[in-house]
Amino acid sequence: MGYGYWGSKHVRVLSSMPDVSVTVVDISPERLRDAAARCPTVRTAAHLGHVIDDVDAVVVATPPSTHFPIANRALGAGRHVLVEKPMATSVPDAEALVATAARHGAQLMVGHTFEYNPAVRRLRDIIRSGVLGRILYIDAARLNLGQYQRDVNVIWDLAPHDISIASYLLDELPVSTAVWACRNIGRRHADVAYLRLDFPTTHAFVHVSWLNPNKVRRTTVVGEQKMAIYDDLSDNERIRIYDIGVDPAGADDAQATGDMPVSYRTGDITSPYVPFREPLMIQDGHFVECIRTGRQPDTPGERGLEVVRVLAATDRAIATGQSSPVFGAPGVAPVLVPSSRAAS
Ligand SMILES: NC(=O)c1ccc[n+]([C@@H]2O[C@H](COP(=O)([O-])OP(=O)(O)OC[C@H]3O[C@@H](n4cnc5c(N)ncnc54)[C@H](O)[C@@H]3O)[C@@H](O)[C@H]2O)c1
Repeated sequence: MGYGYWGSKHVRVLSSMPDVSVTVVDISPERLRDAAARCPTVRTAAHLGHVIDDVDAVVVATPPSTHFPIANRALGAGRHVLVEKPMATSVPDAEALVATAARHGAQLMVGHTFEYNPAVRRLRDIIRSGVLGRILYIDAARLNLGQYQRDVNVIWDLAPHDISIASYLLDELPVSTAVWACRNIGRRHADVAYLRLDFPTTHAFVHVSWLNPNKVRRTTVVGEQKMAIYDDLSDNERIRIYDIGVDPAGADDAQATGDMPVSYRTGDITSPYVPFREPLMIQDGHFVECIRTGRQPDTPGERGLEVVRVLAATDRAIATGQSSPVFGAPGVAPVLVPSSRAAS
């Protein structure tokens, strides 16, 4: 569903898979004409209802506000569904998708593409091996002169990737978030934002922007022993490990006023070889495999729900100007308790 910028990539990779036949559904006749011209083997249809009886699964790559109605309908008809990020635009809608999938015995998977990215997987292995030491913080930037969205702000558009990457790398979920967001162009949505995600063991700082002259897709992991940078735009050094660090040196010694309060360690910068495989190809291939085998996807609907809960917390943080708990995260209350009840 949806033959736009991203849906056309799904169509390309799915059409290249053996024994997969693709039907493109889009409300735009122009987009359907484009699909037919580029991929002569695909069928096209203007409405899901016209073809739902003929398909096993639906990939939803339409604007975020349409994800819930389309995915819920497909799941309700017993079809397996892969929904793009963000899985839904509210926690109740995301919960309803998970429940509908369970009720109808259908697979529900969310398109957190970076969790299928070989470089992100390698970075997680590096963190788990302990070579970076204790993780002090993660810093992420996803900037561009980006496509302004009609139905969501820049956080709901871009930060699902960074929330999913940070939580995948740390194997933890954020429990609270604080946000600074700014609406520069138009009246509709924030187009620049900075997030602080509080994980049980560390913090991640995420900068997302539709209003930046440079395209940046970078995750920096600062460890006590070493530091690593994952640059998704680099051709051949997507991960670099810096053997550098800073140690306290007499910082608490009141007599040592003229000395530096820290000492620096510097060493090699290394870049592990990460064979390139298109993450979307891996992700969509995994979806097909899960349908065929009944295996639970690596990014099931519950994972999409976890990220939507964090996004909902960013909305509350913006509205209140304060740090907001991620309701439903481990150790955090499942729902917002109204203040009158909280006081009693
Ligand atoms: N995983 C990733 O890395 C990644 C990257 C980019 C976009 N996305 C996600 O993919 C989705 C689509 O983004 P995009 O940039 O391709 O948007 P887009 O605007 O380029 O394309 C959306 C398409 O959906 C069609 N459409 C709209 N409403 C529809 C409906 N009710 N039924 C059928 N078709 C409908 C439009 O005509 C259009 O062709 C979004 O959820 C976005 O967040 C994911």
